Amino acid sequence: SERQLIDRFGRRITYVRMSVTDRCDFRCVYCMAEDMVFVPREQLLTLEELARVGRAFVNLGVSKIRLTGGEPLTRRNVLQLCDDLGQLEGLRDFTITTNGSQLPKYAAALKQAGITRINISLDTLQADRFKALTRTGEIEQTLAGIEAALAQGFKRVKLNAVILKHRNHDEVIDLVEFARDKGCDISFIEEMPLGVIGDHDRAEAYYSSDEILRDLRQRFDLQAMVEQTGGPSKYYSFSDHSSRVGFISPHSHNFCGDCNRVRVTAEGRLLLCLGQEHSVDLRRVLRAYPLDNTPLYEAIEKAMQIKPQGHEFNLQAKPILFRHMNATGG
Ligand code: GTP
Ligand code: 5AD
Ligand code: SF4
Repeated sequence: SERQLIDRFGRRITYVRMSVTDRCDFRCVYCMAEDMVFVPREQLLTLEELARVGRAFVNLGVSKIRLTGGEPLTRRNVLQLCDDLGQLEGLRDFTITTNGSQLPKYAAALKQAGITRINISLDTLQADRFKALTRTGEIEQTLAGIEAALAQGFKRVKLNAVILKHRNHDEVIDLVEFARDKGCDISFIEEMPLGVIGDHDRAEAYYSSDEILRDLRQRFDLQAMVEQTGGPSKYYSFSDHSSRVGFISPHSHNFCGDCNRVRVTAEGRLLLCLGQEHSVDLRRVLRAYPLDNTPLYEAIEKAMQIKPQGHEFNLQAKPILFRHMNATGG
């Protein structure tokens, strides 16, 4: 298609993150409150509506879709959506971010559906810490998920680790050793202040990407890479191994200037920035015009005019965003 999405700051939007559910089988401390209230199921987009939204974005020049959540693989019949999206011509990168727990069940079917890459969250290699960080998860589930993805031959399986001081910051070398051993990439993520979570003090838990890089360089020879994936990670390579290490540094190295993405929440809200509330209700448009896509295209194109310049995260202040990460699609 000749159409493309460009915002007021000249940024081309080519990447859409779609949250297919806000539910999850884990309760990671940085993501959710312990007693989360989820969106009533009737308020979610149907799988057909999600597919329609994905198709519309691809027709508007988007080439990368990532399914997120919550845990995307806990949505019933999610494979139907994967099959639909996987067939879209023009979609060059079709990816999913998952906690891995359902991958032993789904990895083969995801490959079949045309998923090109998988990102799996793994913050620690220690079973007791994993339990403490995810509250309801067991490390064996995620480790089995990683093996299942690797067994299907997915290229560049990426691990994601949110690093928190005093909870897992002393494991960054171990996590990199693990990633290299498995032939995975790994990204380290600075925690973002979304939603009231109660459990820990985010300012105290802050551990910067520069500190992690410094720690890693005690052990590894790491060089900043020129080529990047079009995601927020800034990647480094090793002199002696093909795995890569990424850093997602919303606090220490703002990357909003290169933003190429928007999100769709499970309720069909087009969210123009992870750290702001600017949004457009696509569900209303979808339901008002079930057979005509023109209003949907127009709503999406018009939304580009309200995409904010960037987030204003502040770890010292109370969170300004009430919505939690699981309702946002990372
Ligand atoms: P790749 O395509 O593999 O580069 O993936 P990705 O890093 O784009 O996606 P992933 O789902 O693995 O997300 C990793 C982390 O990046 C999560 O914590 C996301 O919340 C965060 N992230 C993704 N996009 C943005 C963004 O636009 N702004 C901010 N602040 N964080 C983002
Ligand atoms: N800050 C940073 N990353 C987060 N994630 C979940 N909540 C937060 C947060 N508050 C991560 C998950 C997953 C990815 C989609 O987002 O660990 O890897
Ligand atoms: Fe679930 Fe991912 Fe949030 Fe953890 S970070 S609770 S695995 S959605």
